[in-house]
Amino acid sequence: MNTHSRKKPRGVLIAGNWKMNHGVAETEGFFSEFIKATSNLNKSDSSELGVCVIPPLLRLEQASGLAKKSPFPIAVAAQNVHWEKKGAFTGEISGPMLKELGVDWALVGHSERRQFFGETDETARKRTESLLEQGFRVILCIGESRAEREANKTTEILTRQLLGALPAAGQGAAGFLDGRLVLAYEPVWAIGTGLTASPEQAEEAHQVIRKLLWDRFGLEAAARTQILYGGSATPENADALLSCANVDGLLVGGASLKAESFAKLVAAGAKVIAL
Ligand code: 13P
Repeated sequence: MNTHSRKKPRGVLIAGNWKMNHGVAETEGFFSEFIKATSNLNKSDSSELGVCVIPPLLRLEQASGLAKKSPFPIAVAAQNVHWEKKGAFTGEISGPMLKELGVDWALVGHSERRQFFGETDETARKRTESLLEQGFRVILCIGESRAEREANKTTEILTRQLLGALPAAGQGAAGFLDGRLVLAYEPVWAIGTGLTASPEQAEEAHQVIRKLLWDRFGLEAAARTQILYGGSATPENADALLSCANVDGLLVGGASLKAESFAKLVAAGAKVIAL
């Protein structure tokens, strides 16, 4: 087993959320280019450096097949999953359906789901609880809007969204303790806007989140949980963001769509774990 990087005790995770982008040909092209561009990565680093691609639902099967061709492990995650395992929920998909495709990672509570599709803290909690119970790794997204930040409500919003979406202490706690829960701090004002949180703003918010985990679930959960930053992350600002002590990786939208820039973001992750 590798000794963990002193700078990054939880390793680094670089995740690319494609949102509603990339058809069949683009997915094929992305993986063949990305696998070439990351051929210098050392497989033995994969206990510290995680790479995850989050394509649209219809591309999950193709993406998980293509990901298997990569010598360096690439996880594939779903952008949304229902909390029930089956039933009369037209238009939805379930955890067991994803598992049949070999997909056992899922994003929960993305701000676009909250803004456009009625996701609430309560539905995010149902998804998180159910998916952790089903053995998934969950990337739970939280973050304040511009108006909330300007009104000095960032900590209040992060507290409400985080505690509202996590299983009560005791239940589902295994998901925290074994590191299967990943959090993503995604300030809404930074998503797709080209405005990135400064490293200081990101670190401050990540500290708030880690302290909340500590207060509510204990030191071990707080120490183990990776907290990613998301919001206009690019190869240009990745080094500065990843140098923050409490930033354990990046959740990337726009800059994850092109293999070349996503590979650069992964290279930034590899660089910081080598320190
Ligand atoms: P951008 O990187 O395009 O700002 O998107 C961030 C995001 O929403 C990732 O989930």
